[in-house]
Amino acid sequence: MLAVDVNGVGLAELKGEHCRTLAADLTDPAVRAKVADWAEGGDYLVNSAGIVMIKPIFELTVEDWRRVQTINAEATFFLCQKIGPRLRPGGAIVNLSSSSAKLATTIEVAAYAASKDHDPLDHALLRLCPRLASGAGQRDSAGHCRYAHARGGAGDRGADARRHRRRMAAARNKLVPLGRGAAPDECAALIWFLLSDESAYMTGQAINFTGGLVNW
Ligand SMILES: NC(=O)c1ccc[n+]([C@@H]2O[C@H](COP(=O)([O-])OP(=O)(O)OC[C@H]3O[C@@H](n4cnc5c(N)ncnc54)[C@H](O)[C@@H]3O)[C@@H](O)[C@H]2O)c1
Repeated sequence: MLAVDVNGVGLAELKGEHCRTLAADLTDPAVRAKVADWAEGGDYLVNSAGIVMIKPIFELTVEDWRRVQTINAEATFFLCQKIGPRLRPGGAIVNLSSSSAKLATTIEVAAYAASKDHDPLDHALLRLCPRLASGAGQRDSAGHCRYAHARGGAGDRGADARRHRRRMAAARNKLVPLGRGAAPDECAALIWFLLSDESAYMTGQAINFTGGLVNW
């Protein structure tokens, strides 16, 4: 397994006999090409790297928009394009979308929501790698496992941002029928199912993993 993240510190705990790590920026095409070479004949691709930007829609700048799209949409698309055809037959791809792509529970993640609407990507993938069994275009949205939200999570880290995120998460929990966010282990279990032979007859699917928040 190869784990790639721009945050080398977070990667260190993954490094081991069965996991190589690469601290690198996936918005860099040269990094993606290196990862694709490494993935030749591999089994699976899971695109989880991403950022969220919490900012009122009228304050968003072009730079903000590009920063979010470049990792959440562009990097995901081109990693699928480069690696998809190089996976073994029966291999699988899982991309992480978000409930925000379907449901505006907050108006402060507009750029993020747009970056997570992977429908065009899925359709392209199904044509790009039809021989991929379950995975191609299979978003765990959260199939895109459209995670309602998990603890912690991508992006802004300042104290104010954290307080604001906690308030947002609490407000959103009230909207989630199960009344809570998904635990990382729960998200991992869904991703593993989507990679496994148990889901071999599934492809091109968006899975709502939102505690009942999104059911369309
Ligand atoms: N946590 C949630 O509430 C939630 C909800 C829905 C969807 N998601 C999606 O799930 C995925 C994982 O999110 P998480 O909650 O684990 O967040 P996280 O911040 O823990 O993980 C995201 C990782 O992406 C890495 N990353 C960011 N930019 C990168 C770049 N340019 N190159 C390489 N790595 C980069 C970060 O360093 C971080 O380790 C993300 O795509 C996120 O959008 C999360």
